[in-house]
Amino acid sequence: MRKLAIIGGSGFGKLPGFDLESAHQFETPYGSPSGEIKTGHLFGRDIVFLPRHGEGHTIPPHKINYRANVWALKETGVTDVMAFAAVGGITEPCQSGALVLPDQLIDYTWGRESTYYDGSGGNVEHIDFSEPYTEWLRSMVIESSKACGISLVEKGVYGVTQGPRLETPAEINRMEKDGVDVVGMTGMPEASLAREAGLNYVCLAMVVNAAAGRSPVEITMDLILENLKVASDSALELIRHMKDLNE
Ligand code: HPA
Repeated sequence: MRKLAIIGGSGFGKLPGFDLESAHQFETPYGSPSGEIKTGHLFGRDIVFLPRHGEGHTIPPHKINYRANVWALKETGVTDVMAFAAVGGITEPCQSGALVLPDQLIDYTWGRESTYYDGSGGNVEHIDFSEPYTEWLRSMVIESSKACGISLVEKGVYGVTQGPRLETPAEINRMEKDGVDVVGMTGMPEASLAREAGLNYVCLAMVVNAAAGRSPVEITMDLILENLKVASDSALELIRHMKDLNE
């Protein structure tokens, strides 16, 4: 039996329409996750929910305990993860308001606890990460977008920065040369930990601002949260129309 988890990003401390059944505070060998692991129903579907930044958005990207989060989801019996992320847009298709389903990433973060194979368990593994996102799960999201007529940028490169500050325009120019389409702060090590834990994982990136140097207005948290409202409605529609994972 498959079990889907949604990891909520900025603006998703709570999941609209989520019908809570139980909440569980986990302790893992890596410490505490960002908050309670919540189990319940969304659009009649069993869902596990975890807000990445904590319910009150109090944990900055570089302080998130990604290892504990992924571990706790695995312990809950989750098999598949849909990770929501607010991002800045760099390339033309990824304008404010766009929904992007990355197929690749570049990790620019540093100093984060990024693996379960840190030597402490006595064995070292080098996971294959040539496809950082699970292709069949990506296909299901693409299918859902077609079914409900929500426009989706079906692939792209997610560049993950350290934050919490935003980037300089020069950094964004460099990232564009690297092939990056959208920039955010939380895509790693979440994706690689999910792979290490054997979880299927996709990221639904919501473009909430044009990246630094390309935005006609100052990028503020208010702007990000305002634009998130629109993108998050579409993201939820995609979930509503997604086929049951057990079908
Ligand atoms: N850069 C990095 N992370 C972000 C941005 C951005 O422009 N917007 C939302 N998250």
